[in-house]
Amino acid sequence: MALEFSENAKKEIAAKIDQLPDRRSALIPALYIAEREFRYISPEVMEYLAAELGLPVSEVRGVATFYTMFNKEPVGKYHIQVCQNLTCSLLGAESLISYLEKKLGIACGQTTADGKYSISRVECLGSCGTAPVMQINDDYYENLTAEKIDEILAGLDKESS
Ligand code: FES
Repeated sequence: MALEFSENAKKEIAAKIDQLPDRRSALIPALYIAEREFRYISPEVMEYLAAELGLPVSEVRGVATFYTMFNKEPVGKYHIQVCQNLTCSLLGAESLISYLEKKLGIACGQTTADGKYSISRVECLGSCGTAPVMQINDDYYENLTAEKIDEILAGLDKESS
């Protein structure tokens, strides 16, 4: 199936190109828009953006692969990113990751069979004062405990049913 950005995403990318001093500067904002649209940056997305921005595909690929926060593989509707850095680890991140893996029946780097959840380990989310922390899509969840994870996932289940 051909890659199809929504009209809204196309307009947002065009607006970024207009706002910024050169097309190259619009690459990272365009990658964010594309990731929101497709949940990951596929080779087809890279080709599309290269054409839109007038850049070599290799440059788009170079930027997309350099920044680990851009997903290069499909992820679930809810992408759970758990901080594994020092403060979060000292406050129980490892046991929370194990708890999440067991609860969802997947390991980090995997997606549930229904395409709903993916779990990833990430480095510091910049919220060490409220560790342990995880990010689900664009939202932060802080001072985590297993009980809080249960509540958060129950809320997401309700939201998507
Ligand atoms: S170490 Fe986890 S947010 Fe900084």
